[in-house]
Amino acid sequence: MSVEPILEVRGLCKAFAGVTVMNDVSLQVRKGEVVFLVGPSGAGKSTVMRCTNFLETPDAGEVLFHGAPVDRSENGLNDYRARVGMVFQHFNLFPHLTILDNITLAPLKRGLLTREQAEQKAHALLKRIGLEEKATAYPAQLSGGQKQRVAIVRALAMNPEVLLFDEPTSALDPEMVGEVQELMRALAQDGMTMMVVSHDIGFACDLADRIVFLEKGQVVEVDTPEELQNSANERVRDFLARRQ
Ligand SMILES: Nc1ncnc2c1ncn2[C@@H]1O[C@H](COP(=O)(O)OP(=O)(O)O)[C@@H](O)[C@H]1O
Ligand SMILES: [Mg+2]
Repeated sequence: MSVEPILEVRGLCKAFAGVTVMNDVSLQVRKGEVVFLVGPSGAGKSTVMRCTNFLETPDAGEVLFHGAPVDRSENGLNDYRARVGMVFQHFNLFPHLTILDNITLAPLKRGLLTREQAEQKAHALLKRIGLEEKATAYPAQLSGGQKQRVAIVRALAMNPEVLLFDEPTSALDPEMVGEVQELMRALAQDGMTMMVVSHDIGFACDLADRIVFLEKGQVVEVDTPEELQNSANERVRDFLARRQ
């Protein structure tokens, strides 16, 4: 594993209506690393993710990609988001587009692939997740687990260097959590660099190289799963114990 971080946030701060929800958050993700963000509801995990992708504008701090601050111009952000993909809790598929069109939309819009190339790639991605026969279906015709797996391969269609996930299994019925986690596990094994917000501590401990524990908008601890479970911080240990 390389030492230089591929993605780094430095001193991120954010307040909503004068209330600080993220205070001086810094963290690093190295190439091929899987970093989980865990912590109580309202800790600011989604805010960190959304600021990392500039869906939210941080009040202070910086996001560095390959060591350089992200260019926040429209073109700069488009380039950055093509290389750092995001998967959301509620899938965010376009309901009026077929599964195939959902997957080909971004590469076509960005002019990265011809239609033929984009469709070929989309079919290969759908094959990978066993949903080839859903290419012409619409999102409403898919189960939650299928929708989230499509959302993940849609992100992969851009050949991203990093994938950000915000609670990717939280909106799923319990019996569908496994299929999404399996896909994420396979991506991690393939060497994909991932930053994941999850309240599923078991999954985090299983998949993470490092876990960032957030509380009240601040990073409390950054550790390997083993270290975190033996944390000197009682609140961290309590949180983990309650979630096992
Ligand atoms: N757009 C927003 N406007 C106002 N308050 C927000 C907004 N987004 C998040 N918050 C508040 O910021 C805090 C942190 O939220 P969030 O980042 O979603 O936490 P988490 O993902 O850890 O549950 C919460 O108190 C939440 O209500
Ligand atoms: Mg959240």
